[in-house]
Amino acid sequence: MAPDPFDPRAFRDLGHRLVDAMADHLAATSERNGKTLALRPPDAMLDSVAPLGGDGGGDLLGLAQRMLLASNRLHDPRYMGHQVAVPRPELALLEGLNALLNNGMAVYEMGPIQTAMEIRALQWMARKLGMPAQTDGVMTSGGSLGNLTALLAARQRAADAWNHGGDRFCVLVSSQAHYCIDRAARILGWGEGGVVAVPVDADFRMRTDLLPEALASCRKAGRIPVAVVASACSTATGSFDPIDAIADFCERESLWLHVDGAHGAAYALSQQMRPLLAGIERADSVVFDAHKMLQTPALVTGVLFADPAACASVFTQQASYLFSKKAADEWHNRGHRTIECTKRAMGALLYAAVATLGEARLCSDLERGLALARALARRVAESRDFELAVEPQCNIVCFRHRPEGLEGEALDSHNRRVRQALVDDGSFYVVQTTLPRGHFMRTTLMNPRTTEADLDAMLDAVRSAARG
Ligand SMILES: Cc1ncc(COP(=O)(O)O)c(C=O)c1O
Repeated sequence: MAPDPFDPRAFRDLGHRLVDAMADHLAATSERNGKTLALRPPDAMLDSVAPLGGDGGGDLLGLAQRMLLASNRLHDPRYMGHQVAVPRPELALLEGLNALLNNGMAVYEMGPIQTAMEIRALQWMARKLGMPAQTDGVMTSGGSLGNLTALLAARQRAADAWNHGGDRFCVLVSSQAHYCIDRAARILGWGEGGVVAVPVDADFRMRTDLLPEALASCRKAGRIPVAVVASACSTATGSFDPIDAIADFCERESLWLHVDGAHGAAYALSQQMRPLLAGIERADSVVFDAHKMLQTPALVTGVLFADPAACASVFTQQASYLFSKKAADEWHNRGHRTIECTKRAMGALLYAAVATLGEARLCSDLERGLALARALARRVAESRDFELAVEPQCNIVCFRHRPEGLEGEALDSHNRRVRQALVDDGSFYVVQTTLPRGHFMRTTLMNPRTTEADLDAMLDAVRSAARG
């Protein structure tokens, strides 16, 4: 007889062995032995994974071991790359529980406690941001989807495009905004003119003095402006647009204010950083990713709407197999408010992060990343062979290696080559971006295990790659 796939004893046994393997992985990362990156050329990696088909019978534990060996190690203190949380191990376990329960969240009946946890997690986010008490929202799979959801609501306030269509809309946004805003505008059918880029100042913040001109150009092109999007912060340099000044402009012009706080909204927990978010409490909508700065596994995004009616107005549809009333009358049926139907129970992860770690701990980890960013910026600024792109406003630092005599394209290719050598070696993960002044390496310091000694080692590794 075939073994019962739902046999609790077999599951317990496999679970213990799987947790042991994950714990060994964590141990290896804390000792900084092995590589941070497990990169191989994409073709070689694809060849190493057999095509699918056949009768199954594979060994799950063996597969897990292979995944552990061939994956990037975010928990290694030398991981300083993209803005993806180094997840708290206990929250990763909870994600496993989520997967086992598989309580989808289109309607309350499908995920009862998950719905309640999502609501509480959203209320917590709104409270931390100082948004109005009646703020409503929804959780989505990532900031990109969250920004699209918010822009759908903004458009709906400007005109009933949900029912009547229309492609002559646009949003005003800093030239440094994340690409997902432009993508959202194109998905909405607004085409190339759907985003009007407002220039930035020397610190890469939106120049609010240029907003009237941008608005005029939008209207001159026959477009209906639906919103101004403030970045809090921008992706490349971590720059915070002046939200209060943007909110004043939106108020004067009756425009929707959306804040893309995917990365930086979490700083609402920090007294030290709160001033950079001044004005976020006046936003019509905010996107806030917990899977960036709040240590949850991806993806966990809150999309918050100051006006609950706006939140409920985004998707107006009949679906008698799910909904029996209008969105406004069914706060508990989350599927009314999001593109997703079956939805991961992501609220549970943020709920658990706050309930178990507490705000003070989350805040001290955020401020630790900030202190590390400042320490790195100081080291870079004080050294003769490095250059800082801009004084960091948060935990994102852009810098480049600058040997004497190299300028322009030669300096850019030098930095591209050095970073590639670093990635090929795999000990440190540092990413990159191109700014008006040239090509820079980029780090996001949000790994709670990274120390100043790791920063020194990383700069040394850059120097040694440069020599190589
Ligand atoms: C400012 C900003 N907005 C949106 C996103 C996209 O978020 P996600 O990767 O969760 O879709 C990012 C990602 O880095 C970001 O930095």
